[in-house]
Amino acid sequence: MFDRIGDQDPERPYFETGGTGRSHEFYTGEEQHRREMERIYGRRWLPVDHVSRLAEKGSYTTLDIGTGSILLLHGDEGIRGYHNYCRHRGYKLVEEPQGKRQSFVCLYHCWVYDRNGALKSNNGTYFDHFFDREKNGLITVRTEIRFGIVFVAFSADAPDLDESLGEFGAFAEAYELADLEVVQWKDYPVASNWKLVAHNVNESLHFPTAHKDLHRVTDFDDAGTYELTGDIVGAWQVIRDKYNSVSMTGTSARSPIPSVPEGDIQKINWITILPNLLFGFTADYVMAQWVWPEGPGTCTVRHFWLFHPSETAKEDFSHEAVFALWDKANYEDWELCERTHRGLSNPMWSPGQLSLDEEVVAQIDAWVARETAAEPKVEGRP
Ligand code: FES
Ligand SMILES: [Fe+2]
Repeated sequence: MFDRIGDQDPERPYFETGGTGRSHEFYTGEEQHRREMERIYGRRWLPVDHVSRLAEKGSYTTLDIGTGSILLLHGDEGIRGYHNYCRHRGYKLVEEPQGKRQSFVCLYHCWVYDRNGALKSNNGTYFDHFFDREKNGLITVRTEIRFGIVFVAFSADAPDLDESLGEFGAFAEAYELADLEVVQWKDYPVASNWKLVAHNVNESLHFPTAHKDLHRVTDFDDAGTYELTGDIVGAWQVIRDKYNSVSMTGTSARSPIPSVPEGDIQKINWITILPNLLFGFTADYVMAQWVWPEGPGTCTVRHFWLFHPSETAKEDFSHEAVFALWDKANYEDWELCERTHRGLSNPMWSPGQLSLDEEVVAQIDAWVARETAAEPKVEGRP
């Protein structure tokens, strides 16, 4: 099904020269960062969570994006996104990343919101006839769900979500993404520009040097790039013959996710929803890594590990070997990203040559550059 290797266009320009990196300003500059926050993170549909983390009424998660914070809440109408700030004086309403409650009390002056974001009480704060409680609920953020992923958009003119997702649905359905369960998640702060992390998690060229455990189980040389439609990029990589799971032990008794095509059982399909969500689709589990920018030189990586409910229901279910592999690999990666960021922070940096194994790196940069290109000068305007 995903054996599109034969469909690759060997004539595409990349195969002649590879690509090149970009400038010091592109990776570390304040102005570039401002444009990314405005035109990408402030405008487009952003994948933010998985429905299994918000399964019950009253369950909530929070997420920081740039300098802002959102609250996702499972209310009476389903999952909705809100700005995570009290409507009274702007106190950040919820600090914890995840939980379950039926009401949310602001700790500054005790305004209380319900699970639908409505203001239920302004406890003791004195207001006269001018106060309209109905107009003081939490500010909503546009929210949609596709394939079990929650998306939000901060603008009214976000490009069409389904068009953006392009061929992603074929992968999501094969790996039953909507029905999987997030068994574990973890946040990692990284002192690097978010794009350097996006590059790193999208190429396996560094596996032999950086990740001995991953390299033992997966073959960085038996890999390639997909040509996909939509705002997505992707690559595939083969799991070595004697192993059946990308984990510290390399083996697992878990059954493959039932819909995974035979030809993909020994593969990882690495698919990224641009700008910032990488999926590692494997036959026995799926991992998801979000990169959330904070400033030009800092970001947070949020990592999920998802398994099929028929496996998590088993008494002897354990994801220990999977988590052990990735948690170690993650710290190995952040060190690479942070040192690369320090290198690119030097204004003397001059863009380097990318190899044919780094096509996705070039694709990510090209996409970000397109989205943030300087606006054309309009005649008569400064
Ligand atoms: S800021 Fe929340 S109650 Fe005042
Ligand atoms: Fe890595």
